[in-house]
Amino acid sequence: MSDDIYHLAYVSDALLVDPSESEQQELLEWQLKRILDAAHSNNSAAGVTGALLFSGQHFAQVLEGPQAAINERYRLISQDSRHNNVTPLLYEPAGERQFADWSMALCGAEEVENLPENFQVKPSPGSLEAGNLGRSIVASLAAAIGKRQNA
Ligand SMILES: Cc1cc2nc3c(=O)[nH]c(=O)nc-3n(C[C@H](O)[C@H](O)[C@H](O)COP(=O)(O)O)c2cc1C
Repeated sequence: MSDDIYHLAYVSDALLVDPSESEQQELLEWQLKRILDAAHSNNSAAGVTGALLFSGQHFAQVLEGPQAAINERYRLISQDSRHNNVTPLLYEPAGERQFADWSMALCGAEEVENLPENFQVKPSPGSLEAGNLGRSIVASLAAAIGKRQNA
């Protein structure tokens, strides 16, 4: 397996507490923090970088790094009971990292432009539509992170 940098993008349905219930906010933040803590320590150790969008109902995540490293992370992530309907969209050479400074950047839907309102309907893995959605997720999350860094 090559050491080239690959991108992997997927969407899933979140199984966290309901974000619309205000008394659940603290619990939701704790749930997200646990995910991010694991991501930061495992990804840093494995040379993986990326971004995670949490929209309230859905996740969209981009993992980038050497193939073996992102394969192993994705294998565990896709079995995690905190989300389901994990649908791979994109798996291809990345050229260069888009999230080089982030072992995993968490983005809220409000800072990300040009994405569908929700990811309820998921394209078939391997389809042209899946690849296009995956690439637009990479571009939109990279733009959101870029805006944050320039703010
Ligand atoms: C939406 C979502 C995103 C996640 N992203 C990552 C990630 O980027 N890297 C990672 O190692 N674990 C991630 N996890 C957690 C893994 O599924 C798994 O719990 C973790 O890798 C186990 O690590 P541990 O054995 O160190 O606790 C994510 C989980 C969810 C639900």
